[in-house]
Amino acid sequence: MTVDAQVEPDRERAMLDDLLAATPTRGDHLLPVLQAVQARVGFVSQEAIRAIADAFNLSRAEVHGVVTFYHDLRTEPVGDTVVQLCMAEACQAVGCRSLATHAQATLGVGMGETTRDGRVHLEATYCLGNCALGPCVRIGDAVHARVTPERFDALVVAARKAAGARA
Ligand code: FES
Repeated sequence: MTVDAQVEPDRERAMLDDLLAATPTRGDHLLPVLQAVQARVGFVSQEAIRAIADAFNLSRAEVHGVVTFYHDLRTEPVGDTVVQLCMAEACQAVGCRSLATHAQATLGVGMGETTRDGRVHLEATYCLGNCALGPCVRIGDAVHARVTPERFDALVVAARKAAGARA
């Protein structure tokens, strides 16, 4: 997922207040609220967990449990471009492991890490719903099929450029 920008605490609080005022605070709305925070801020901060728990009349532990249950929700900021490599079975059959090795070497990070410049976060994921066309990579909201190491490099360069243009 590509995040627009890191949001300052005051803006985060204002966004949370608006979001919570516009959303019914019933249990079935908890996940959409968390997803909305993630989409706008890039992660669900402890402050957001506290505010959401208060609004939904839940404990912080309950909200934190939901956040940590869903792999796509994060509690820490990551690079403004998230690169997800599918490491599930069908993609393994067509070389995702060697692509992962290439990606880690190219970016200089391990899985679950962010590049030193704070721009690109690399992580494994398990099935992007495009199994017949692996190896698959998601950058931002776009899923890319049959990704070779060369194509991976080109996609990351393009994503970095796009993120730089948004900054
Ligand atoms: S196994 Fe990779 S997209 Fe499904």
